[in-house]
Amino acid sequence: MRYSKKVLDHFLRPRNQGTIKNPDAVVIIGNPKCGDLMKFYIKVGKNKQGEETIKEAKFETLGCGVAIATSSVATELAKGKTLSEMMEITCNDIIKELGELPKSKIHCSVLADKGLRKAIEAYRKKKSKKLNNKNF
Ligand code: FES
Repeated sequence: MRYSKKVLDHFLRPRNQGTIKNPDAVVIIGNPKCGDLMKFYIKVGKNKQGEETIKEAKFETLGCGVAIATSSVATELAKGKTLSEMMEITCNDIIKELGELPKSKIHCSVLADKGLRKAIEAYRKKKSKKLNNKNF
């Protein structure tokens, strides 16, 4: 089994690993098959058009090398994207960014994009709850 240079690079020098102080959302997602866990933190900002964007995304991953590499790439892809754009990112985009993955490791890539979508959903839920509370 061979890994691309990019997979090895993101595994050995993961980008955005760690936590965010006062994040707008934090989620944990796990792979029930292997027990790997990913925790994602996001901070939301706005672009010039006033659209909400991912200002910062960080992760903590307890898992295999591919899980770490995909978390790293996913958080890199997320930065500066609007929330709607980020909801469209799939594991195929992450795999494309990494070059390729061995077939047996494809399942590791589905966690990262799911995790970030889950973080956006958590943020939106929290925001709508705040708005509803304000209206009462
Ligand atoms: Fe579990 Fe890779 S083996 S995510």
